[in-house]
Amino acid sequence: MHDTTPRTAEGKVLWHFSMSLDGYVAGPGHRMDWMPEATNRPGLVEEYVRTTGAILGGRDGWDLFPDPGAVYGGAWSGPIFVLTHHPEDAEPADGVRFLDCDVAEAVDIARRAAAGKNVEVLSPTVGRQLLARGLLDEIDLHVLPVLLGDGVRLYDDPGGSPVPLELVNGDPVEEFNVRYRAVARTGV
Ligand SMILES: NC(=O)c1ccc[n+]([C@@H]2O[C@H](COP(=O)([O-])OP(=O)(O)OC[C@H]3O[C@@H](n4cnc5c(N)ncnc54)[C@H](OP(=O)(O)O)[C@@H]3O)[C@@H](O)[C@H]2O)c1
Repeated sequence: MHDTTPRTAEGKVLWHFSMSLDGYVAGPGHRMDWMPEATNRPGLVEEYVRTTGAILGGRDGWDLFPDPGAVYGGAWSGPIFVLTHHPEDAEPADGVRFLDCDVAEAVDIARRAAAGKNVEVLSPTVGRQLLARGLLDEIDLHVLPVLLGDGVRLYDDPGGSPVPLELVNGDPVEEFNVRYRAVARTGV
């Protein structure tokens, strides 16, 4: 199952991440060196540049990469919203608005700013809150051939209950089968 039909801009709220096979979107200490510099899927960046109307993130991700000009390697520009409980100590940046409000209100603000295009939620924490409130429409993941064992999980909800999903680019209930082989580690 490898359907990479381009996404369309339909005013959706979506999570878009590169993820390790074991479910991490960042390594320990927010390490990102396990991710390749560029995606090997042709047209992916152009697809997201075309369909993304606004970005909604969290304060930790912003503080780690506080550069609105770096989204999709600088190819995307648009409104960025960052949820934080302390907007007063955030460094102002062009096109970036710091929000201290309910996630539903934040998604509403981002959706209006996206003007019919999609709102990309670039935060595991914010996405989890939106999922709990039924406010996340889709999850688009690029699963990379690596195991991290520790770090920031895409979905972290200890003691939580299962969240059922339907596959969008295939039979909704399809499970997929992947086979990997372990390769020699470098730099260990
Ligand atoms: N693999 C990928 O494709 C990819 C893409 C993007 C990001 N990432 C990674 O994701 C990680 C960041 O995600 P994260 O989940 O650790 O942190 P995050 O969501 O960026 O930030 C969490 C912080 O956002 C603020 N926040 C969250 N919800 C809020 C709410 N409802 N109201 C007010 N403030 C709220 C809080 O900060 P305060 O309380 O301090 O204000 C919270 O501690 C980074 O390591 C980044 O590299 C990976």
